[in-house]
Amino acid sequence: MADNLKDGTLISFEGIEGCGKSTQIVMLAERLRELGLEVVISREPGATPLGQELRKLLLDPAYNPDALTELLLYLADRREHCSRVIRPARARGALVLLDRFIDSTWVYQGFAASAAAIDDTRDAVSVEMIETLNRQVVGSDWPQLTFLLDCSAKVGLERARRRNLETGAVGVADRFEQRHIDFHKQVRAGFLHLAEMEKERFRVINAQQEINDIHDCIWREISGRILG
Ligand code: TMP
Repeated sequence: MADNLKDGTLISFEGIEGCGKSTQIVMLAERLRELGLEVVISREPGATPLGQELRKLLLDPAYNPDALTELLLYLADRREHCSRVIRPARARGALVLLDRFIDSTWVYQGFAASAAAIDDTRDAVSVEMIETLNRQVVGSDWPQLTFLLDCSAKVGLERARRRNLETGAVGVADRFEQRHIDFHKQVRAGFLHLAEMEKERFRVINAQQEINDIHDCIWREISGRILG
């Protein structure tokens, strides 16, 4: 069990496309702010001006970079994110909520990419290399707590499609959403595998419940540590 949460705590949210991370982060941030805490919400890729440019490149279906190139671009985005957003926020005592972080790289560029490499022209990169580089890139900005919002690939992709319809983003599904459902099943399996390996840090939440019920599960986990 991680220590009680305190100033400068870093909490990440992970999960497949359409698992509802962004909604839950906003709900949690509002509740924490009501307690008078400073909360910073951030996301990857794209939390800095340079990161915004990298995000456009990374999610554009027009590109299909070599696996190591793709990994290095995500890590460049992360390094910039840590030095310009996360570290300054933690230093002034803010609580930082992250929409994707180190584990997305381990899963998307490592675990799931390796499984897909059989029918892909790209070589996969090893999860060991990702683990080493992630540690180099983030240094002490390792999350104390990670919520894995777990739902089936079918449910997640349906939600992501609905969101694209609602936001008018029809036809511009990004490079990852366009991938076959089997890839998203591997992504889900990868996150669950990580959560099993790092039980201390991860909390797996059933993301197929109602939005308010998911929030209650997250709040139960957080409130004891903040108010306790
Ligand atoms: P989003 O849908 O949460 O905005 O994330 C954008 C996509 O980027 C998502 O499909 C997952 C992918 N991604 C990676 O492949 N590796 C990473 O390290 C991160 C942070 C995201």
